[in-house]
Amino acid sequence: MENKWKRYTVTAALPYANGGIHLGHLAGAYLPADTYARYRRLKGDDVLYICGSDEHGVPITLGARKEGITPQQFVDKYHSLMKNSFAEFGISFDIYSRTSNKIHHETAQQFFLDLYNKGVFTEETSQQLYDEQEKMFLADRYIMGTCPVCGNEKAYGDQCEKCGSSLSPKDLKNPVSVLSGNVPVMKETKHWYLPLQNYEPWLREWILDNHKDDWKTNVYGQCKSWLDGGLQPRAMTRDLDWGVKVPLPGSEHKVLYVWFDAPIGYISATKELKPNDWEKYWKDKDTRLLHFIGKDNIVFHCIIFPTILHSHGEYIVPDNVPANEFLNLEGEKLSTSRNWAVWLHDYLKDFPGMQDTLRYVLTSIAPETKDSDFTWKDFQDRHNNELVAILGNFVNRTMVLTHKFYNGKIPVYGNLTESDRELIASIKVAQQNICDSLEKFRFREALQELMNLARAGNKYLTDNEPWKIVKSNEERCATVMYLSIEITAYLAQLMQPFLPVAAEKTLSMLNLPKKNWSAELKGQLIHPGHQLNEAGLMFRKIEDEEITAQVEKLKANQKQVVLQTEPKNPESEIANSVINYDDFAKLELRVGTVTAAEKVKKADKLLQLTIDMGNEVRTIVSGIAEHYTPEQMIGKQVSVVANLAPRKIKGIESKGMILMAEDADGKLKIVSPAETVNSGSKIS
Ligand code: MF3
Ligand code: ZN
Repeated sequence: MENKWKRYTVTAALPYANGGIHLGHLAGAYLPADTYARYRRLKGDDVLYICGSDEHGVPITLGARKEGITPQQFVDKYHSLMKNSFAEFGISFDIYSRTSNKIHHETAQQFFLDLYNKGVFTEETSQQLYDEQEKMFLADRYIMGTCPVCGNEKAYGDQCEKCGSSLSPKDLKNPVSVLSGNVPVMKETKHWYLPLQNYEPWLREWILDNHKDDWKTNVYGQCKSWLDGGLQPRAMTRDLDWGVKVPLPGSEHKVLYVWFDAPIGYISATKELKPNDWEKYWKDKDTRLLHFIGKDNIVFHCIIFPTILHSHGEYIVPDNVPANEFLNLEGEKLSTSRNWAVWLHDYLKDFPGMQDTLRYVLTSIAPETKDSDFTWKDFQDRHNNELVAILGNFVNRTMVLTHKFYNGKIPVYGNLTESDRELIASIKVAQQNICDSLEKFRFREALQELMNLARAGNKYLTDNEPWKIVKSNEERCATVMYLSIEITAYLAQLMQPFLPVAAEKTLSMLNLPKKNWSAELKGQLIHPGHQLNEAGLMFRKIEDEEITAQVEKLKANQKQVVLQTEPKNPESEIANSVINYDDFAKLELRVGTVTAAEKVKKADKLLQLTIDMGNEVRTIVSGIAEHYTPEQMIGKQVSVVANLAPRKIKGIESKGMILMAEDADGKLKIVSPAETVNSGSKIS
């Protein structure tokens, strides 16, 4: 295929620095974008894969408030958590930046000024909701109320998550401040608006006419319904103190709307990476701009940000926005507030060195056209029955036999049969199909093609049984082994975008360098006389116990969060964040003394504690085994939630819960009275 593009700017949505990275994030944006960027690099294209942390907006300020730290401390903590887990997982960003950087503030402010000076914005003074107690305007998610469209009582000031309507705070019925729980008053304030409605004709032509055939139907459909619903002016500034300051006089307490500054973060990150020639990645129309996102970001990347870029005049707009639908978990919607999520940093701890397995599974079930479901059982099955049994098995059999028959030296082959020729042709077909699918962002399909090639290899070995003819028909055996190695070599090259760790291993076993897919991935990759390296195992099996442990962990952690800690992602459980005294009084907190402690079998994190509560002795199972040994716990006084409904953990009835303080680095410390008190003392 002729390539009309000179270079590629690939972005993945900047994640809010308010939690970790979970599988939904990966499947939605970061993994497909990574696979794509790797593919482009293999083709020898000029590609930048850009990402970073989104550190502004209400999700950040509310999160910081909940954790009782400053927004800066809050984003510092989560930025490094996310950056590290992406790096360890092997997401190949060319840069992972952050929007609290100076260069970003300057870039976003300049962009705002450019639009301001061009007269793009309209200036409007209007009445906005204001919390008198907190002395604050209530933008976006600082306000909750009833959705005017569907009646959902927990709609946010910017969006109803139930019906998907995009809202503005004043649309809500019965609005309540999430900070104080008070009913807001109206107060006058001035803001700058992007008059989206003026750009409707341009948007219609650009999206509905020009991208009807190449954009995914889910993306195209959402854009169409937005456009058909009529566009409204949208405020690009907010009355807040955390964010990029509005660069106009008299705007001390105003910042840029987070959805104005964050996507410009893609540009600032490019500047940071390429200070001297960043412009061609954003301004040359031969550059292909691609935004990888989840479906909740479609309007921002297809309507609002493109309008910002277009109205500026110097910038290109995205050529495609391959947004994914959502990934569910064990049949339920992922929820960070309920901690119904698998966190990447946990996965990396529990399955060290098994990055490729997660990549494989998430690509196989990618929510490309509709929501899909991740289950641990399916994860195990795909790993054991596909990665191990098909791909790993073929590579392993080929390597082992070549070492056994020829001491790892590629034999001279003989005449090719009809079926040999078909096999060679099928390699070419697989290669072409993989590329075609990747060009269309059909990652599942591309991975299937790769696996089909491994299947064909297995079948070829089974049909030809070289082990039976190694003595009786040396020439035929050599041919069969030669072709099997040739398939292995193609597999090793072709698996690179999907399974980078396994590809590296296989190439090293084959003693082959990486090839450029445009110039070098044709003809024979391996020649008689070439010496292979030692054969090593590509994948180990995943045992049932590992899977049971994950499912239990998921369930245990889910409940813990509901009962123990504040939600990680403040967006979803804001309504519960303010409690009155009566709510507090429902808790019965008491001091207990630990009299015995032991590890819980098959649960690395759990200790079973026997606790003297004064007038009774209780058993409590607690997730502190990574922080305290049983010996350390004995004799300690702990704070116990005494009236918590009992529940079974690992078959042990746990009556109550002990309180923990969590350090910034995740270490747990028990909460004890400063002086020893009688067991059973009430805490109030
Ligand atoms: N932080 C946003 C989210 O998590 C995504 C921002 S994408 C960007 O939904 F384009 F604004 F950077
Ligand atoms: Zn609604």
